[in-house]
Order: sequence, then C-alpha cells, then structure tokens
Amino acid sequence: MLEIRNLQACYGEMTALWGVDLHIRPGELVAVVGPNGAGKSTLINAISGLVDVPDGQLHWDGTDIINASAESRVRRGIVQCPEGRKLFPEMTVEENLLMGAYSRADRSSVNQSIDEIYEQFPILRERRRQIASTMSGGQQQMVAIGRALMARPRLLMLDEPSLGLAPIVVNEVFELLKRIHKDGMTILLVEQNVNQTLEIADRAYVLENGKIALEGSGQDVLHDPHMKAAYLGH
Ligand SMILES: Nc1ncnc2c1ncn2[C@@H]1O[C@H](COP(=O)(O)OP(=O)(O)O)[C@@H](O)[C@H]1O
Ligand SMILES: [Mg+2]
Repeated sequence: MLEIRNLQACYGEMTALWGVDLHIRPGELVAVVGPNGAGKSTLINAISGLVDVPDGQLHWDGTDIINASAESRVRRGIVQCPEGRKLFPEMTVEENLLMGAYSRADRSSVNQSIDEIYEQFPILRERRRQIASTMSGGQQQMVAIGRALMARPRLLMLDEPSLGLAPIVVNEVFELLKRIHKDGMTILLVEQNVNQTLEIADRAYVLENGKIALEGSGQDVLHDPHMKAAYLGH
C-alpha cells in the first residue's frame, strides 16, 4: 500500500532522516518506535508532505506521490493524528470532528460519519457541545483520533497518541487502536511507549538518529537483545 525507499528529510541544513526504507501492507498495524529526537514525527510529516524531502521515493498504491501536496495526500487517504493532538481548543468536540472532514467532497455523508464516530465513542456524543480544551487528556485524544477518522483514512498515522496520559488512560488508547485495527484499518503507529506498542504491532521498525536500526515482527523486535538493553530495561 505504502512503500518508502531511501527517504531523506531535512530542516534547512539539518538532516533528520538518512535514507529510510519502510513499507506498509493493507490492514497492517506497523509501529515505529525510538527515542525522543529519532525522527519519528519527521517520518510521519514526510509521509504527509509537510517537511522537505530532498531525496527518496514514496509510492502509494504504486504511484510515486513524493511531489503531491499535503492536501492531495489527505484526499488519497493518508491521514495523521498529530503529536500533541493539536485540537482547535476553543471549538466544541463536534466542531473539531467536522474539521477532520474539510477535504471530503462527499459533504452529504459527513453527518453519517459523525454518527459512526459517536457510535464508536459514546462519550463524545455526550460531550458534543463541550469546548475541547475543557476535556481530560484522554478524551481530547479520542477527539483527535475521531477527527482523523472523519477524513476517511485508508492509512491512519498516529504520532504518540499515549503521550502525557495517565497509565490507565494509556491502556484505553491502546485498546481503542486495537479495535480500530481489528475493524480493518491500516495503521502506522509512532510511539515511545515501546512495550505496549510492540505488543499490538504486526510489524515494527526501530528508528534511531534518523535511520532504521532494526525491523521485524512486533514480537521479534520486542524480544531482540538490543531492544531489551536499550529500551526495556531488562
Ligand atoms: N521544525 C524543526 N526544525 C528544525 N529541526 C527540527 C524540527 N522538527 C524536528 N527537528 C529535529 O529533527 C530531529 C528529529 O525530530 P523529530 O522527528 O521530532 O523526532 P521524534 O518525533 O522521534 O522525537 C531532532 O533532532 C529535532 O530536533
Ligand atoms: Mg515526535
């Protein structure tokens, strides 16, 4: 579905990705884990068309989209739920959800999509008129995921959805991602929460200093000696 070859990304003079190879098949949950500053968000933003990519190939359904605009990538179904959620804080829950549908041509079915989101997240229906910034962190993350789903993704990319949440809420977020995946969504999940992420991933990549250091099935990476020493503390 997505095939990335030799992808480089930079901010001015500073290179953040040094030739990354990565692929995602339909229906997979692929994880990218690695420490702070490794280039995880840069990778998601490069796939979204939001950072400078001086070299590399990005094939989507066999078409090279390296020069496609960020908006056209969203229309093709490449959608991200950004790090730190980036909600519109003064808008209501429902207004935030509607913002996720801005790129859709099928305006008439947007209301139906909102209903589907509310079925998945009953708490959001209850709180549809609540101002987003007044909700708890976990609820705000649900709004952010719901907003991304409103764009009708074929590939849903999530940038550290568990960041800053209490452990019990983190569990809820992972349960939610498992459910969305089980329902058939293709997911690219970027996380620093290595253990829980590798537990639910079909395949995983470890990103370090802008390079892929390790790849394999979620379980293989979880049990890799390098991973145990570097990230898992045992
Ligand atoms: N907007 C930016 N301008 C300049 N450098 C950036 C910018 N965003 C990220 N970087 C740098 O790129 C590298 C990778 O960052 P990032 O992709 O945010 O890592 P991660 O998401 O894994 O924490 C880091 O060295 C970071 O300082
Ligand atoms: Mg990041």
